Amino acid sequence: MDAPDTPPPPPATPQSIIDILYRKDGDRALRPVHAVGIAVRGYFEPSSVAARYCRAAHFQPSPGRYPALVRFSNGSGCKDPHDNWSDVRGMATRFTLPETESGPKTYTDLIAMTLNEFFSKTPDDFQQFAWAARPAPYTRENPWRKLLDMLRLTLPLRNPYPGETISPDLGAIEFATTNDAAKVGVAEAAGIGAPVSYLRAAYHAVHTFIVTNSDGVQRPVRFSWQPVLGVRTLDPRAPYDPKPEQGNGDEYLQDELRHRLLTSIGKDHPRFTLMMTIGEAGDALDDPTRPWPPRRVRIMMGTLSIEEIVTDPDAECERLCFNPGLLTAGIAMSADKVLQFRVETYKLSGELRGAIPCPFSGASPDDIRP
Ligand code: HEM
Repeated sequence: MDAPDTPPPPPATPQSIIDILYRKDGDRALRPVHAVGIAVRGYFEPSSVAARYCRAAHFQPSPGRYPALVRFSNGSGCKDPHDNWSDVRGMATRFTLPETESGPKTYTDLIAMTLNEFFSKTPDDFQQFAWAARPAPYTRENPWRKLLDMLRLTLPLRNPYPGETISPDLGAIEFATTNDAAKVGVAEAAGIGAPVSYLRAAYHAVHTFIVTNSDGVQRPVRFSWQPVLGVRTLDPRAPYDPKPEQGNGDEYLQDELRHRLLTSIGKDHPRFTLMMTIGEAGDALDDPTRPWPPRRVRIMMGTLSIEEIVTDPDAECERLCFNPGLLTAGIAMSADKVLQFRVETYKLSGELRGAIPCPFSGASPDDIRP
């Protein structure tokens, strides 16, 4: 089913946005965005300073190791992987928190992507953006048009990949020409490229969260995952040139992950560090389109080690439902309206595609099947 022919009027609702996000090359049984993904298991170990900043259970030194489930994904809602196409990638992490005397084990999610900033400050703005950026026929721009774009300081279109007939890029770029808030995110997305590995990309949770420590001190923060293997991205203008054993390069990300985890058995596991940037007075605390200044205190909150691919990809990946609002004591939402809107949107999206109950559905922790 295609997006509606005219932009839906505000206010945006979870249903109206999901209707726009689904692409005709997607699949209603999959997610409307980040449709292709692979899940892995591992564990998170907090750094020695993490507890000073946040009282959340997984930042405490005891027991000191917390199981984690991670889903890596391609940003598009297309049901085919197209791993070598320039696109945003996602990393959704579910931490298992230990049982306590007062209650059973619980979970908390951290959802991140390779863009530093988002496209919109409010759900209504995002609805307009998503409608403008709905996939449209995509053809090669002639060299004169590219030159004209550059002279006008607008982004020239990259050439389509072999087999690429529709794309959100043209609509997104046109939207950003007249909407300042979308400019940073769209410019970043236009040149983002494809990572050589899901384990060689940095992922950002984008929104501001409020963390509280055991003394009750509150701080506005933004979280990012940094790969210990280093960031390495393909040039978005030069499609992946795979080795013969990697086929046509369309599906190398999952193959590479499987291969790397198999060959790391008995050695060091691939790791990410969790960085937490602390905001200061005047920083945009409710606006995910605006970067914070570079000189900010950054705390290394811990290390995530990736051990193995999940054994049941259907239950532990495809039918799983992450939610950016699944937080735990010590981490709270900021006043960011996009972050708040995502809670009900992900819940509805999970219901529509028959996912295992969202943590907000009232299901018991065991039903969530992390
Ligand atoms: C108004 C803003 C947004 C809307 C409406 C939206 C919508 C959605 C929807 C409907 C899904 C599928 C959920 C499911 O079926 O389980 C999804 C998945 C996802 N979104 Fe968003 N999103 C928004 C903003 C963001 C932002 C700011 C980020 C980055 C931090 C992000 C990263 C992701 C990732 C990584 C996934 C895949 C999660 C998984 O692996 O299950 N989204 N989004």
